[in-house]
Amino acid sequence: MCGIFGYVGKRNAGNMIVSGLKRLEYRGYDSWGVAVVTKDKLNSSKIDVLKKVGAIGDLEEIKDLPESNIGVGHTRWATHGGVNYVNAHPHYASDKSFVLAQNGIVENYQELKEDLKKLGYKFETETDTEIIVHLIEEKLKTTKKFKEAVRQSFLELKGRNTIIALSTVDQRIVAVRNGSPLVVGVGDDEFFFASDTLSFLDKTNKAIFINDREMIEYKEGKIKLFNVETSEEIDFKIRTLDEKQTEISKEGFDHYMIKEIVEQKHTIKEASVYSAEELLPLVNQIKKSKTVYTVGAGTAYFAASQTAFFLRKIAGIRAIELKAYEMDSYKNLFTKDDLVIAFSQSGETADTIEALELAKSKGSKIASLVNMVGSTTSRMSDLSYYCRSGPEICVASTKAFTAKQAWGLLLAGSIISQHSEMQKKIHNSANNLEGYFTDELFTQIKKLSKKLIEKEHFFVLGRGQNFNIALEAALKVKEITYKHFEGFAGGELKHGVIALVDKGTPVFVISSDDEDLENMLSASAQVKARGAWVIGVGQSNNDLFDDFIPTVQSEGIDALTNVIPFQLISYFMALELGNDPDKPRNLAKSVTVK
Ligand code: AGP
Repeated sequence: MCGIFGYVGKRNAGNMIVSGLKRLEYRGYDSWGVAVVTKDKLNSSKIDVLKKVGAIGDLEEIKDLPESNIGVGHTRWATHGGVNYVNAHPHYASDKSFVLAQNGIVENYQELKEDLKKLGYKFETETDTEIIVHLIEEKLKTTKKFKEAVRQSFLELKGRNTIIALSTVDQRIVAVRNGSPLVVGVGDDEFFFASDTLSFLDKTNKAIFINDREMIEYKEGKIKLFNVETSEEIDFKIRTLDEKQTEISKEGFDHYMIKEIVEQKHTIKEASVYSAEELLPLVNQIKKSKTVYTVGAGTAYFAASQTAFFLRKIAGIRAIELKAYEMDSYKNLFTKDDLVIAFSQSGETADTIEALELAKSKGSKIASLVNMVGSTTSRMSDLSYYCRSGPEICVASTKAFTAKQAWGLLLAGSIISQHSEMQKKIHNSANNLEGYFTDELFTQIKKLSKKLIEKEHFFVLGRGQNFNIALEAALKVKEITYKHFEGFAGGELKHGVIALVDKGTPVFVISSDDEDLENMLSASAQVKARGAWVIGVGQSNNDLFDDFIPTVQSEGIDALTNVIPFQLISYFMALELGNDPDKPRNLAKSVTVK
């Protein structure tokens, strides 16, 4: 939620920041802003700020700001205050002596605001960020030192926050992290202060990962790291990142979403390249754990739930899926004999990180499967694995979901000593995807989507291996079509849901040729008898289906790829509806706030 980006170096700061913010827009695109600091002939500094409502779009160069070598920028996902020019970041001090951007939520903002009002501060925005600005102004009165004023102010903030502050007085940057991510890219005589590595990986692959309660300062060409609580200077490590993570382009596709859907023929394989030896530490940990909990949020939760299903069904492991944001109610259950496996595309989801912190505090072991290399979740894990899917830019997650399933299947296979057999099956499914994305299929789904957009309420039924797929399918369609699409367990229908089915109600039935087929066909018959428009999604057509979408051929692991037709349906429905599939309304990809 919200992307922050600071630059200092020999290149044009405005353009560097715009380029970084474009790569951070998945974190929020309600509005954006850039502030740069310049010096005039008399050596006095000034701040120029440019702010806009909406997404950055194709902007390459900033012409409305002066040439500068230092600045900060922000792309917003609104939490406090509406989406408008005034609330857009960066925000600056009344005397323009510093400028600041924030990612997070100041949980005690009301209390702090009241105190500051009593001290005479006037508030122009509805943001919680402005409170931090005035706090720093207040602390400056006594400390007279920018770094110390930022530090003292930061310590008064409750919640998960990361801030970047730039002083005009001596062109110094101070950035502090607690909860929300912060990484510093290190180039040749230049530094990038950002919410993720992706935003600067096209400029440098050297990075310093800042931990919670750490503060980094840039001054006169040098950076220093401090413990924000004690002010003590600490050592930092510059890491070299995998170059492969740098590519971000639509590669000729109209949208990232369709590019990422099609990419699954490669990413499914990539996620399952782990050798039996590489998975062994986790396999051993699973075997000696009393209970294995899998955890995630949204799509990542469905992937976590699917992995728990694979662990139970294939490997006979006592595995329980948990929604990260509901973890608290399980806190009395976690012990040092348990293992928690976290699933996350970004590795920065606040709910998931808090769930892991909770499990860790109880002594449970932590493992994770994350797509973004070097994320907080990976770094806090005892055992960390990667999806290896490359950057997923579209807000609606597609390739990261199937990657997580591929990895979950491989893990379950490894536990029962069938690593290579499972790997082969997964790779065969991925190979079958090569021939799946045909013009014929796209034409069929486009035609169907045209009819579907006339409806408002949709249902999708899945059972067994396809239960989580039904839930994820529904989420995908909701996210980018804004239509009411609900996923249910096939068996749940007769216990209440069928009351919603009326004449013409579209009901999708995911029907793999497995032990659940008969039950799914019975469910199809029951909804058809009530006039539903039954759309079968599976390997074999049936007379009960009014429409039928074929799925990818597989050797009993259909669930791996069964979400793909729904990803395509949601994409083509969104286009028909005139929605931007890459940037759905109200959403952000990385939910770093609570
Ligand atoms: C996916 O389409 C969603 N935008 C959302 O549910 C997402 O999966 C969730 O917020 C978790 O994100 P993460 O995978 O980065 O942890």
